[in-house]
Amino acid sequence: MAFASEAGVIRIETLKSDASRANDGNGDIEMLAALLHACVRAGASVSFVLPFSHEDAKAFWIDQVLPGVAAGTRSLLIARLSNRIIGTVQLDLATPPNQPHRAEVRKLLVHPDVRRRGIAKALMIAVDQVARTARRTLLTLDTVTGGPAERLYQSLGYFSLGSIPRYALNFDSRVLESTTVMYKDLTTSEQGKVHSFSLTE
Ligand SMILES: CC(C)(COP(=O)(O)OP(=O)(O)OC[C@H]1O[C@@H](n2cnc3c(N)ncnc32)[C@H](O)[C@@H]1OP(=O)(O)O)[C@@H](O)C(=O)NCCC(=O)NCCS
Repeated sequence: MAFASEAGVIRIETLKSDASRANDGNGDIEMLAALLHACVRAGASVSFVLPFSHEDAKAFWIDQVLPGVAAGTRSLLIARLSNRIIGTVQLDLATPPNQPHRAEVRKLLVHPDVRRRGIAKALMIAVDQVARTARRTLLTLDTVTGGPAERLYQSLGYFSLGSIPRYALNFDSRVLESTTVMYKDLTTSEQGKVHSFSLTE
């Protein structure tokens, strides 16, 4: 999928499943590390707290994400502006045997420099398509209560189940933030059907 934004033409792709190529090839892991690093430093609550180095960010992708991508249990979607990765999201398909219809949405990130241009929305529409292709009809996630991502997910058909107070430290460890558990039922939602497109690899 490609779409025009104020920043230029943005392409949504699935990252190749060959982890070693992703690691060494065109610098994708370095760019993903830079993206995660920039988001955390800008205040994102996405599991990490300061101090958080570029190397910490790189280790996250290499140790916690690429093995699942290589095993085919995790889809890694990226948004590119020219060759630069400026957004990403994952769909974790590694659910227990009694949940073959469910998948977990993880680590939606858009670089602070290019927000409010519809990049996250495009990534999440692509997630629906990847989920449908993988025969996953129930999507679950959690996000900071009352944050921008919760509003984004609600606008795309996710329901908020409730909020768990004092769930996690914010990025600079000053406050404990609440988290909201959300889900989207693709058997009843029209979102994503309307916006289908071809993903490139
Ligand atoms: C949340 C995040 C992914 C949104 O990315 P984005 O590309 O700016 O989002 P989009 O431009 O696609 O926004 C789509 C809609 O979501 C809502 N939204 C997004 N950011 C918002 C904000 N800061 N405040 C209010 N609403 C917001 C709006 O409804 C927006 O539509 P609009 O711009 O037409 O009003 C981005 O801010 C981010 O990376 N934050 C840090 C990481 C994070 O919190 N990720 C979520 C983990 S669960």
